[in-house]
Amino acid sequence: MRIPLIAGNWKMHTIRSEAETLARAVVQACEGLQDREVMIAPPFTALATVAATVAGAKVALGAQNVAWEAKGAFTGEIAPPMLLDIGCRYAIVGHSERRQIFGETDALINRRLTGALAHGLTPVLCVGETLDEREAGQTLAVLERQVRAGLAGTTAENPVVIAYEPVWAIGTGKTATSAQAQEAHAFIRNLLAELHGQESADRTRILYGGSVKPSNVDELMAQPDIDGALVGGAALDGESFARIIHFQ
Ligand code: PGA
Repeated sequence: MRIPLIAGNWKMHTIRSEAETLARAVVQACEGLQDREVMIAPPFTALATVAATVAGAKVALGAQNVAWEAKGAFTGEIAPPMLLDIGCRYAIVGHSERRQIFGETDALINRRLTGALAHGLTPVLCVGETLDEREAGQTLAVLERQVRAGLAGTTAENPVVIAYEPVWAIGTGKTATSAQAQEAHAFIRNLLAELHGQESADRTRILYGGSVKPSNVDELMAQPDIDGALVGGAALDGESFARIIHFQ
C-alpha cells in the first residue's frame, strides 16, 4: 500500500548554519524509521549543505520549485539535472505561494511538473482552494481544474505526489478539519482513478498541508485518504517536526 510521506517545506528560511542544525535534528528523528518516508525541501542555497548533512540517512531531499529545460537562458530558474546533481529526488510544484505571489498559472505549473518527470524527479503537485472559493462552494471545482491541468500529459506510470493545501489553512493556524481534508482527498483520488486508472490512484500519495502541527497530525493521518503531510511552519522547529514524523 502507500508508504506515508512527511515532508518539510522550509520556504524562504534558513541560512546554511541554521539549515545544518535543523537537518541534523531531522536525521536524528528519522533514526530507525521503517514504515514512513521523510523529505525536506530547504531553500536552494542550503541544498548542498543539507545534502551533506543527511548523506547516508533515510531523509530524502526536495526542491521548492523546478524549471523544465535541462539548461539555457532562464534567469533565476533551477534546472532538473542541477537538482538531481545536488541529491534531490523530489520537487514541489504549484505551491499556492508560487501561484498567488508569483503569478504561476496551471499551464506553467504543468510545464514544471512534466519537466521534472522527464528528468527523473518526483513532483509534489500542490493544489488547494482559497477561502473565497470555499465559501462560494467551488472547492471541488478548483481542485478538479488544478489536478487535471497540473497532470496534463502524464501517464499512470509517472510517479507523482499530490499535496492538498487549502490556501486559507496555510500559515494561518487554521487547519482544515479532518473531515474537510478527507473529503478533498477522496475527491482527488477519484479524479486520479478517472485520469490514470484505479491502480495508479491507489498507489499515489496525497498529502495534506496547512498548519499541520504535533497536536493535529495524528487525527489527520488517521483519515483513509491522507497519506502524509506537507509541513511549513512546524517543519522549522526540530522538535515539532520530529513529533510530526512520529505521528501515530
Ligand atoms: P504551514 O505551511 O504548515 O506553515 O501552514 C504549509 C505549506 O505551505 O506547505
